[in-house]
Amino acid sequence: MSKEEKKAYITTPIYYVNDIPHIGHAYTTIIADTMARFYRLRGYKTYFLTGTDEHGQKIEQAALKRGRTPKEYADEISGKFKALWDEFEISYDDFIRTTDERHKIGVQKAFEVMYNNGDIYKGEYEGHYCVSCETFFTETQLIDGEGCPDCGKVTNLVKEESYFFKLSKYQDKLLKWYSDDDKCVLPKGKKNEVISFVKQGLRDLSVTRTSFDWGVKLPKSMNDDKHVMYVWLDALLNYITALGYGKNEDRMEFWPATAHLVGKDILRFHAIYWPAFLMSLGLPLPKHIAAHGWWTRNGEKMSKSKGNVVNPKEVADAYGLENFRYFMLREVPFGQDGDFSQKALIDRINSDLGNEFGNLLNRIIGMSGKYSDFNITSKNVAKLHQKELAEANEILKDIELKLDELQTNRYLEDLWRVLTIANGAITAHEPWVKIKNGDTDGALAVVGLVANLLAKVTILVSPVMPKTASKIADAMKFEISYESYKKYIVDNELLEDFSIEKIPPLFPKIEEELLKTPKPSIDKKKEDKKSNEGIISIDQFFQTKLKVGTVLEATEVEKSKKLLKLKVDLGEENPRQIVAGIKEFYSPNELIDSQVCVVANLKPAKIMGLLSEGMLLAAKDKDGLSLIRPEHKRNSGSLIG
Ligand code: MSP
Repeated sequence: MSKEEKKAYITTPIYYVNDIPHIGHAYTTIIADTMARFYRLRGYKTYFLTGTDEHGQKIEQAALKRGRTPKEYADEISGKFKALWDEFEISYDDFIRTTDERHKIGVQKAFEVMYNNGDIYKGEYEGHYCVSCETFFTETQLIDGEGCPDCGKVTNLVKEESYFFKLSKYQDKLLKWYSDDDKCVLPKGKKNEVISFVKQGLRDLSVTRTSFDWGVKLPKSMNDDKHVMYVWLDALLNYITALGYGKNEDRMEFWPATAHLVGKDILRFHAIYWPAFLMSLGLPLPKHIAAHGWWTRNGEKMSKSKGNVVNPKEVADAYGLENFRYFMLREVPFGQDGDFSQKALIDRINSDLGNEFGNLLNRIIGMSGKYSDFNITSKNVAKLHQKELAEANEILKDIELKLDELQTNRYLEDLWRVLTIANGAITAHEPWVKIKNGDTDGALAVVGLVANLLAKVTILVSPVMPKTASKIADAMKFEISYESYKKYIVDNELLEDFSIEKIPPLFPKIEEELLKTPKPSIDKKKEDKKSNEGIISIDQFFQTKLKVGTVLEATEVEKSKKLLKLKVDLGEENPRQIVAGIKEFYSPNELIDSQVCVVANLKPAKIMGLLSEGMLLAAKDKDGLSLIRPEHKRNSGSLIG
């Protein structure tokens, strides 16, 4: 294929503007940036898109809460995303905002096409909606009749006129796509989850809303301006509106996307709704939809209320942006959840980067300085070190595939295997002994071999660590470009003779954690202040899971004046054992079959040697104790709140 014919189109999700960028956003964006740089390096004409998702109820509410108009608020937060990506030197070609005129035109056009081909019809939607996830759910999907199955927050019951997209019509076509195209959804485990979801049956999707208006209006031709588009229809279409869909289609040459990078939480939208919309529009389907896992911090889920959200800028400022990029891509197998800890980051910097990568450069500089006045030659490398070259070339033979299939950690592991060959060759061939024995050619060939291996790794690591790679390439007098990729990686040529320059250490050793205890976010501080005043936020309240339980058994605890041992049904697989100090006020018999209210997410504790898996709610005053119970019987496990 000639250079011009190869095209790549890489996208990130467009980020909601209800919050500032965090490590999760940075992770997706950095993977996408790495991919885009790798395609460019290989001579692909590449288009890399990112942007912000600005419509919908969630944004409208976030803006109102701050006394701003949604557009003002979106402008501010979208600007923060853009500024961070610019500071991180993310090589995006386009930054789309769903409030852009070009986007609205494209979305309306797409709606018209789908409507005209019979895939959209008018009806009435009645069901549950989670504003936080901007997702519709059926009653059976909810936790305890009202909790969002994805984020746990309470959903709203909505009943409104709506246009529907005939998603059900595409069920078989989607299943065929998954089975025909092995790598359409990556990684495989996630693809299987998507397949089983689709096999359970797809219902038509409500794609417009009438209860608020912060969204794209229907096309004029529909003559129905009560409705705005459902935010996910609006958002997903960004991948084609950015290419000019519906207006100026010149960049549609990049379609279909090479890879849509997404987090696992939004895979369903991308792997089910999006291809169905595309089928309806008569457009080809993306080559890969790749879902990564989530980052936790020191083993805990990140949340604003805990104040433990990792701020990517703080990490990059403290440890170096490229070290951070390397860490994120190397630390976790793509698709799995990963844990951010400073210790793990420091280990990667000191060990992989400092000891194995940077040190190799230092050794080359040191040896060539001593043996040949910093001159390096490839003269006898092929003759004397065929074995090591062959081993390295074997490892790198399929290296492109690793990144194309998003196996970022395997990609880097393979590069580091080449570094191990290089470091191993120095130990095995002891060039200092050769010099002593007068075998200068032999010693220089070891240095030449190692320099060649380092050059290969440098070229291939450049999409992950572009600046670091350039510094090494500058010192070794080669350029990182499509030409050098072809020459040194594809055609396995050796470096021309050159004289190496001394450069300061690239990865100075880090002795201690550079970020002090996580800074509480502004919201956290506000929350703390309120807690000090005895006031908690709704989020704090909902951290306590209160449930209705039905008492199945009640017995006295031997030798205890106060305790009863209960078996309480909370709608779970097994009843819970709860030990409660209510014996003076209730007899076991009057409790059986009655209902109680239980704190259901309390850490289990042992009371008089008996496990207690919850706590009953009760009111107590000087006259006695009274259990709190639902006024009318409710299903066991019903949520209270
Ligand atoms: N606006 C939608 C995407 C629409 S794309 C057509 C959205 N935005 S988001 O801002 O909420 O999330 C963007 C991405 O951040 C998602 O891919 C999500 O998985 C990712 N992450 C959010 N928290 C994360 C972690 N803690 N770790 C890793 N990624 C996480 O969803």
